[in-house]
Amino acid sequence: MSIIKKLFGKSKSTSTKSPPIHGQSISKRGIEATLTPLRPDLNVFFSAKANIWHPNRNPDGQIPLNMAENNLNWSIMKKKIEEVAGSSKMADWVSGYTGMRGDNAFLEIMAQFLEDQLTHVKMNPDHLAALAGATAIIELTTWILCDAGDVAVIPAPSYPVYTQDIFNKAKVERYDLLTHHHIEEIIHTHPLSITHLNQTYNDLKSKGKKFNMLLLTSPDNPTGHIYSQEKLQQIAEWCITKRIHLVVNELYGLSLIDTKHADIASDYSQHIEFESFARIMNDKKSNYLHMIYGLSKDFGMSGFRVGFLYSLNESLMAAFENISAPHLVSNYAQWILSEVFQDKKFLTTFIKKNQKKLTESYAIVSQSLKKMNIPFVPPHGSLFVWLDMSEFLEENTSQGESTLWQSLFDDTGILLTPGIGFGHSKMGQFRLVHPFVKKKVLKEAMKRLSEFVDARRISSI
Ligand SMILES: Cc1ncc(COP(=O)(O)O)c(C=O)c1O
Repeated sequence: MSIIKKLFGKSKSTSTKSPPIHGQSISKRGIEATLTPLRPDLNVFFSAKANIWHPNRNPDGQIPLNMAENNLNWSIMKKKIEEVAGSSKMADWVSGYTGMRGDNAFLEIMAQFLEDQLTHVKMNPDHLAALAGATAIIELTTWILCDAGDVAVIPAPSYPVYTQDIFNKAKVERYDLLTHHHIEEIIHTHPLSITHLNQTYNDLKSKGKKFNMLLLTSPDNPTGHIYSQEKLQQIAEWCITKRIHLVVNELYGLSLIDTKHADIASDYSQHIEFESFARIMNDKKSNYLHMIYGLSKDFGMSGFRVGFLYSLNESLMAAFENISAPHLVSNYAQWILSEVFQDKKFLTTFIKKNQKKLTESYAIVSQSLKKMNIPFVPPHGSLFVWLDMSEFLEENTSQGESTLWQSLFDDTGILLTPGIGFGHSKMGQFRLVHPFVKKKVLKEAMKRLSEFVDARRISSI
């Protein structure tokens, strides 16, 4: 009997709790919030995380690979934070109110860190704002730059939660720009072109809609693509001419894959070096260019809730000062991180180690998927592999996709990020977050996935 049948013979449901019955006690928008889950896989993620596989302690356990978290280096960061907390005298400013874009001392240290490690160009702390995570940054930036009913264009597939980030408060609509249908068309590079942007501009104009923001993620979630400086330059010039805000989210900017590593080099026809959008921003000095960063992904610290906006738009920064109060980073987090992020040697070593581990972790997935003949996009960065399992769809609909995602979990215990919400036209594509688990667990997941694929192929003969 195959291990997958043996372990997961009985169907386990991923369904979430049904929403409460609604009375008159909350507003219409409150009811809308009650009925709109942040993501469909959140509850099942927490239960799978509590039941994670271990070869001895929990051999029948599950393997969540759906949440964008890198857990490979927490022990290193934890030790550093504990050292700092145990040996430094806490700054006096921690107990009181400080700057509404973050404390000045914190912003100076973080600007220097960004300059040293990410952007390699001058970062003026006056152009930096810190809020509680990239989520808060996206939400407030959209609220300030756009009016209700405006449209934010996002090349598909892309991060599902952008939909809520731009809509919940700012009431800005998401437009998924489709640049391709088959995953094979994006294996080597992100296909977004000025032609796509012009078509989208005309399409929205003909519908009476205002294309007010273009939101790019580099390295991308979920494809792991990096936009080259040449492409970003062209897109930035197009946006400035059209008076459209270009927001580049570099949340995964230090989570880079070594594409020249012997185990994976042959997957790449070109090795694109990551270069931050900040260089173009500093050159152009335009009010229409903005960059996002944060500590959630590159440092595995999503619980610290730290995100940044870098923008030379002074009105945007002034508006931030007036409306950021509900979203501030706690001063204790700002202080402890100021201590950690002053240690350049520690950071350089941490980032290098992280990139090495990420590359090795990704190589396990890529080698397995190649053996299974499952199409995927070789990433240049990020925590993800975007893969195509459409071959196993029983029906080519979003319901068919959801059934496949559920049966993969029921049969194997592997939880991938469901394709729904990424805004793509092709059904049966999923995201796999490889550094959520250590190598040994990832290998077990790949073994189970391979058995699932074999079983499905045999049963279809
Ligand atoms: C592209 C992107 N932006 C924003 C976020 C949210 O980040 P944070 O935890 O810093 O709010 C995520 C998290 O997955 C993401 O992938």
